[in-house]
Amino acid sequence: MTHTCTIFFNNLVVTLFIIKFATLVVTNAKPATFLQDFHITWSDSHIKQLDGGKAIQLLLDQNSGCGFASKSKYLFGRVSMKIKLIPGDSAGTVTAFYMNSDTNEIRDELDFEFLGNRTGQPYSVQTNVYARGKGDREQRINLWFDPAADFHTYSILWNHHHVVFYVDEIPIRVYKNNEDKGIPFPKIQPMGVYSTLWEADDWATRGGLEKIDWTKAPFYAYYKDFDIEGCTVPNLEQCTNNPSDWWEGAGYQHLDPVAGRRYRWVRLNHMVYDYCTDKQRNPVTPPECLAGI
Ligand SMILES: *[C@@H]1O[C@H](CO)[C@@H](O)[C@H](O)[C@H]1NC(C)=O
Repeated sequence: MTHTCTIFFNNLVVTLFIIKFATLVVTNAKPATFLQDFHITWSDSHIKQLDGGKAIQLLLDQNSGCGFASKSKYLFGRVSMKIKLIPGDSAGTVTAFYMNSDTNEIRDELDFEFLGNRTGQPYSVQTNVYARGKGDREQRINLWFDPAADFHTYSILWNHHHVVFYVDEIPIRVYKNNEDKGIPFPKIQPMGVYSTLWEADDWATRGGLEKIDWTKAPFYAYYKDFDIEGCTVPNLEQCTNNPSDWWEGAGYQHLDPVAGRRYRWVRLNHMVYDYCTDKQRNPVTPPECLAGI
């Protein structure tokens, strides 16, 4: 490299740095490509990069499903991606998008699971929250659109006040921090971001009655617009009261009136299962489900 070239190169690096810094401050940190933030964790051969690495295709066939994970772990933040689910007959398949602390003993986990269905029957979106090792908090909604016809945005907001699951910016579930009432809240362990596509026809569709029709395989799901904004390890001690952590800001500490109305609309019109009201499983109502909490 000649001297001029080096100077040019250095200037370019500085310019790029300034541009990047400016974007980080004013907008968000969307990675340019899938591989920037994620790596494949299960079956390379079943994940294909599209659009120069900006989107990916997950494949499920009789040999395997597949999965990917974020390279970093985060303590609080917001993750979001656009997903287009398996069209047509997807019964028995599960597409999952979740955060997980990866600690078997005391697991924290926030789950989105998309449960497939027979052609024309609605997908169910199951959410679950594990806090300090305890899960069994499933809720299900049926979506108000066909999630296989187009991409829709699925996000998880996680801060010191609550965890909120969103579908196209509409809150579908809120798990509040009620630690002061003795209810566990995921707060001290960082979590990675994961996704998998796999067969689960022993339970997923109509409780396992509907099996995968392998004559329809392979099954495809698509992902794009990966966006993780969170506090990354190893700077855990900086993950509290950091003014640049916008997800902790006043506007994100509770649902505003519009979001609250939308949330009630989802729960009144689209909720199909709630562990809170499942008396067979929970003869005693779990404390986080009690009114006023
Ligand atoms: C699948 O469709 C059936 C029939 O409409 C419905 O009862 C069920 O909730 C749907 N979802 C799943 C995951 O079984």
